Amino acid sequence: MIPAHASPGPLAVSPRAAPAHAAMAELLESRPFGSQYTNVYLSIFALFCFKLFVKISLNILTHFYVVKGNRKEAARIAFEFYDFGQGHRSWADRSPLHEAACQGRLLALKTLLSQGYSANAITIDLVTPLHEACLGDHVACARALIEAGANVNATTIDGVTPLFNACSAGSVTCTEVLLEHGAKPQPEICQPSPLHEASNKGRAACVEALIAWGADVDHDIPHLGTPLYIACLSQELQCTEKLLENGANVQKGRFLETPLHAASQKDSTEIIKVLLEFGANINARNLELKRPVETAPPSSLAESMLLLHEATPCSLSQLCRLNIRNYVGRSRLHFIPQLKLPTLLKRFLQYR
Ligand SMILES: *[C@@H]1O[C@H](CO)[C@@H](O)[C@H](O)[C@H]1NC(C)=O
Repeated sequence: MIPAHASPGPLAVSPRAAPAHAAMAELLESRPFGSQYTNVYLSIFALFCFKLFVKISLNILTHFYVVKGNRKEAARIAFEFYDFGQGHRSWADRSPLHEAACQGRLLALKTLLSQGYSANAITIDLVTPLHEACLGDHVACARALIEAGANVNATTIDGVTPLFNACSAGSVTCTEVLLEHGAKPQPEICQPSPLHEASNKGRAACVEALIAWGADVDHDIPHLGTPLYIACLSQELQCTEKLLENGANVQKGRFLETPLHAASQKDSTEIIKVLLEFGANINARNLELKRPVETAPPSSLAESMLLLHEATPCSLSQLCRLNIRNYVGRSRLHFIPQLKLPTLLKRFLQYR
């Protein structure tokens, strides 16, 4: 419960105390070596104890407020005294159920639920225990909460859903459990998108699960662009592949900025290679009317790769594959394995 603070305080005292100490050492020469140090260490220890005492009393005070049901006051105290900073929520605002879910303590969680704690308990920021469980990749806790009636679509004041948290943490199982229990794969407009989050953090398995449950691969958020664009910008090769294999539009990025522009800027040759295989247009121009090759760092690998591609056109088999996939259409791409074609061809069509 007591936040771990770095405490340079007491230790920083000793250098300053040293000169006085030297004088004292002469006076106390007769005493056995080491005993003259005890006073300093004693005061350091006393200071430490005092600090500990203050912290413990503050904790008890905030706890008292929680027990009394005044969570807002407790949150205020915790905020003022601890000031976690960096976007940390104050623990005092959360119910014991939040705490158990956050730490993945299944037994404690089940006990609390059986004692009548609501699975949909919320903090001031509308964070539910399910949010916590998903962020910590605690599948068993998430399941228990859902079984106890937790809302899978719960949104915080920032628009974050448990699904978003699961994708952010890269928890595939939590992602799947949520989707199986009716969580909506696609957020409302202007809310944080799980697919973008998963693409940004390279959670390829989560990307796959989201798409399988109906998330739009080309979901375009004005200030972010498409998931594919985000994946290229974050240089996440696996996510780039997953999105493209599932029919993401290789040209759609942010405004006129294409995924190939993003990959060129980042000098990600592997991603450029994949994008080109999926038919990315090397002549697309961005807002500054620049082609991808012109956005690559000068004399980089990406630049030479794109220049080489200009000189050597796509092979006929590549062009055929692109055309067939276009003809099949994004919504039917998953039927390719069922086509009556040789396995080799089916694998080729699926970029396997
Ligand atoms: C979650 O939201 C979606 C879309 O609004 C809805 O279809 C689904 O039934 C909701 N799930 C639950 C469990 O409320």
